[in-house]
Amino acid sequence: MEAKKMGTPVIVLNMKSYAESAGRRGFELAKICEDVASKQGVNIAICPQQVELARIASLINIPCFAQHVDAVEPGSHTGFVTLESVKEAGATGTLVNHSEHRLRIADIDFIVRRAPSLNLLTIVCTNNIAVSRAVAELKPYAIAIEPPELIGSGKAVSKVEPEIVANTVEEVKKLHKDCVVLCGAGVTNGEDVQKAIELGADGVLLASGVVKAKDPKTALLDLIAGL
Ligand code: G3P
Repeated sequence: MEAKKMGTPVIVLNMKSYAESAGRRGFELAKICEDVASKQGVNIAICPQQVELARIASLINIPCFAQHVDAVEPGSHTGFVTLESVKEAGATGTLVNHSEHRLRIADIDFIVRRAPSLNLLTIVCTNNIAVSRAVAELKPYAIAIEPPELIGSGKAVSKVEPEIVANTVEEVKKLHKDCVVLCGAGVTNGEDVQKAIELGADGVLLASGVVKAKDPKTALLDLIAGL
C-alpha cells in the first residue's frame, strides 16, 4: 500500500534535541502544532525527540516523523533505530540524512527503498543542488534543501540564498516530478515562509524559530501567515 501523502504547503517542525523540546515541553510544543493546524486549517508535521515519538504520535493528531532512522533491518543492533520500530511507534515517516546526522548514499538508498513497503514517507535532507539531484534519483517522498551554514542562524535560506531554493525545486522536479521539495535553515517568520513558497518550495523544515522562541505559539502563527 502506498504511504498516505501529507497536504502541502506544509510546515515541518524538527524538534531536534533541544532542552526546550524534551519531555513535557516537547509534548506541549506538539499540542500547539496540533491546535494551530486544526484551528487554522494548515498542514503542520512534527519530528519529536526520538524517545518521545511513540507517546506523541499516539496522542497528537498531526503527522509525526522520526528525526532519524538507521539503515539496518530489525535484529542484533544495539541503540539503532529501524524503520520498523518507527512504524510501530506510529510515525508517518522519517527525516533522513539531516546535516546533523549524515548517512552514506547507500544507506539513504536502503531507507528510501524500504520505507514505502512499510507505508512510511521519507524526507531526505540535502546540502546543495548536486546532492539534491543524486537523492532525487532515489525517488524519496520529499527532499529538504538546507545549507548547513544557515542552520540556527536566524537568516532564512529563502531570503539569503533564494537561488539554491529555486534551482533545487527545478532540478529535483525534472528528475522526480512528484517529489515534495522543502527548504530550511534560518526560517523564522511568515515572510521567510512566503518567500520559500514564491520560489516554488512546497513548504519549510525548521527548528529553532519555534522551539527556541519565547512564545512558540505566536512564532508558529506568524509562520503560517506565510503559507
Ligand atoms: O531541520 C531543520 C533545521 O536544520 C533548520 O534549523 O534552527 O535553522 O530552523 P533552524
